[in-house]
Amino acid sequence: MEKVTLRVFRGDKTGGEMVTYEVPKVPGMVVLDAIHQIQKEQDTTLACRWNCKAAKCGSCSAEIDGKPRLMCKTAVDEFNGQPITVGPMRAFPLLRDLVTDVSWNFKMAAKIPPLQVVPEMAGKPFVLQQVDVDRVQEYRKCIECFLCQDVCHVIREHNRKDAFFGPRQMVRIAGLEMHPADGINRREQLKTEAGVGMCNITKCCTEVCPEHIRITDNAIIPLKERVADDYYDPVAGLLRSIGILPRDKKAPFSSVPNDKTKIAEQGTGKKQG
Ligand code: SF4
Ligand code: SF4
Ligand code: FES
Repeated sequence: MEKVTLRVFRGDKTGGEMVTYEVPKVPGMVVLDAIHQIQKEQDTTLACRWNCKAAKCGSCSAEIDGKPRLMCKTAVDEFNGQPITVGPMRAFPLLRDLVTDVSWNFKMAAKIPPLQVVPEMAGKPFVLQQVDVDRVQEYRKCIECFLCQDVCHVIREHNRKDAFFGPRQMVRIAGLEMHPADGINRREQLKTEAGVGMCNITKCCTEVCPEHIRITDNAIIPLKERVADDYYDPVAGLLRSIGILPRDKKAPFSSVPNDKTKIAEQGTGKKQG
């Protein structure tokens, strides 16, 4: 029977190594199947996180041959019989084997206020233009796999979790900021603690998104433009100050204090080992 060879990271924050396994290949096999085979037949202590096996829960994120991917969406046939390396996401603290602590992402999400409906649209069904529905729908496809967070060099290489919420949260803010019913001006938060200016539009996040959300083009760049309009466009500023351009009537919002979101200091600007 044909075999699949995998080199899987085994270890925890104190250290680890790549361990080689061979499993029987079955038709339609994905990397998560191979990991399950190892757990079932060879080593029940191998830790991995998964849930749906349908590329919808966002749990099985890992680095496969060095690239952030979902294990349940990666066919072993892609590797043409070569050994497949499987490791944990490197941007987040390692718990064990393929499992990392992604709680920082949820803490950042908690800092983003939810939709606050403008008074004129409150209490009745939204009547929206189709173009607005389509725009927001793209952001809502996110499955919170955090592969985009894992690949982003601001988070991964420079560990600036203290200064940038990351691409996933930019998608979340874009879905709110561009919702016609939202009554919050989110631009101060974007400029300050969310750190939209830290992104230098490399588009790596877009490349790894399993939901094909055009993170950079459709979320981050429009958010950057809105911040630039409000804070860095001298002509618009002058026109607003003399009343030719209207001032934004939305309620301004800057931040939720850290003590309200109990942020664990995973990111301090120091590089992780
Ligand atoms: S485009 Fe921006 S958010 Fe996306 S990976 Fe590059 S720096 Fe990070
Ligand atoms: S934006 Fe895409 S890559 Fe990022 S968490 Fe959502 S689904 Fe995953
Ligand atoms: S197991 Fe749910 S996305 Fe892979």
